[in-house]
Amino acid sequence: MSDQTRFMLNETDLPKFWYNINADSPVPPAPVLNPMTKEPVTPDFLSVLFPMELIMQEVSIERYIQIPEEVREIYKLYRPTPLVRARRLEKMLDTPAHIYFKNESVSPVGSHKPNTAIPQAFYNKAAGTKAITTETGAGQWGTALAMACNFFNMDLEVYMVKISYNQKPYRRIYMQTFGAQVFASPTDRTQFGRALLAKDPENNGSLGIAISEAVEVAATSGGVMKYSLGSVLNHVLLHQTIIGEEALKQMDLAGEYPDVVVGCVGGGSNFAGIAYPFLRQNLKDGQRTRLVAVEPTATPSITRGAYAFDYGDTAQMAPIVKMYTLGHTFMPAGIHAGGLRYHGMAPSLSALCNAGYIDAVAVPQIGTFQAAVMFTKAEGIIPAPESAHAIRVAIDEALDAKAKGEKRVILFNLSGHGHFDMMAYQAYLNGELEDFEYPVAAVKEAMQHLPQVEMAAA
Ligand SMILES: Cc1ncc(COP(=O)(O)O)c(C=O)c1O
Repeated sequence: MSDQTRFMLNETDLPKFWYNINADSPVPPAPVLNPMTKEPVTPDFLSVLFPMELIMQEVSIERYIQIPEEVREIYKLYRPTPLVRARRLEKMLDTPAHIYFKNESVSPVGSHKPNTAIPQAFYNKAAGTKAITTETGAGQWGTALAMACNFFNMDLEVYMVKISYNQKPYRRIYMQTFGAQVFASPTDRTQFGRALLAKDPENNGSLGIAISEAVEVAATSGGVMKYSLGSVLNHVLLHQTIIGEEALKQMDLAGEYPDVVVGCVGGGSNFAGIAYPFLRQNLKDGQRTRLVAVEPTATPSITRGAYAFDYGDTAQMAPIVKMYTLGHTFMPAGIHAGGLRYHGMAPSLSALCNAGYIDAVAVPQIGTFQAAVMFTKAEGIIPAPESAHAIRVAIDEALDAKAKGEKRVILFNLSGHGHFDMMAYQAYLNGELEDFEYPVAAVKEAMQHLPQVEMAAA
């Protein structure tokens, strides 16, 4: 084991393949259903929204999928990303644990989101798409796709959750700088948005609503526009596995192997990105790394939700998938980790959690910001509030190792920086943040609105 702090790969070490968990998963996800017929979706149905290459990746069971050279060229702007040993944090905690983090915050827009935005834009461009629609919560995903569409010379419409649109003007301006059009959702541009505004002109929006609007615009564009999603879908998780593939090589450089891998979960993509290559090693190579997905107590889809078929969006236009869900009618509390405020969870990750291959834990907001500030003071990087959930659990693991006198190797994903989240940090520093436990009764109520699916027992 070396005394190095950063473990760097060369550009020539940039992975050439993404890893597809669906080749190896002992619990393949249930079929994706058409929201109207509730029958398994056909490529024709999906092709209204996505280019065929992405649809093929969505249903692929090939273990490795080649990363196109054009995508690798753009990845080289920021990949391979560093693996860092958080030595100063270890010292602050006085722990025998070794803490490593994969630093995805070094991408040009500050998060892991370009790992899938770039290939999604590439495959759309190759299929002749002229424009894309998407939603964004806090703006990390919208910014990443705005950058990617700008690189491939395509137009982009972003439906941004209204509360974030108003609270986070800098992310909006960042997207507009790339040439994207950004709208505060619910908007009057869609039938669904107009119906919501007629009921409540002050509707602050949610990710589920913004997805519905972006899907409606693409689906009614007569084939001119396609839709792009920043998490949840198989192809998105696939693209993110470049994180874990690099991390495996870098842990090797460090001469260690993680006992536990930790990541935050919104729709599940950055967690799956770092964890699935390690899960492969568990399944095929006899490793025993614990994989821990961390969610907020305000949006506890895995720890409090049901494992059931549900719509991906509020208007019931997106496909129905079997996943952990708080119900598509879920309206999130105004916690600051905007990227974690989604009602569902990626189907492959849900299946793996349900079968016990992956653990899940929920952490409250104030403890999360405490961890974020400790990390900032120790390592100098101010994390995205989303990523801070992973830091909370990494610190708890390190403290537990200390209490037990164990050496434990902990790896977490720093999915993004928090440079545009200063208002959240200010609220924390002023003592204005509150913890929020999502009420059990609300989950129960939402379960009444799940779609009735014959094969629900599947
Ligand atoms: C920095 C950051 N981390 C994590 C997430 C959560 O998404 P996912 O679970 O798909 O990684 C987001 C979503 O916007 C994000 O911006």
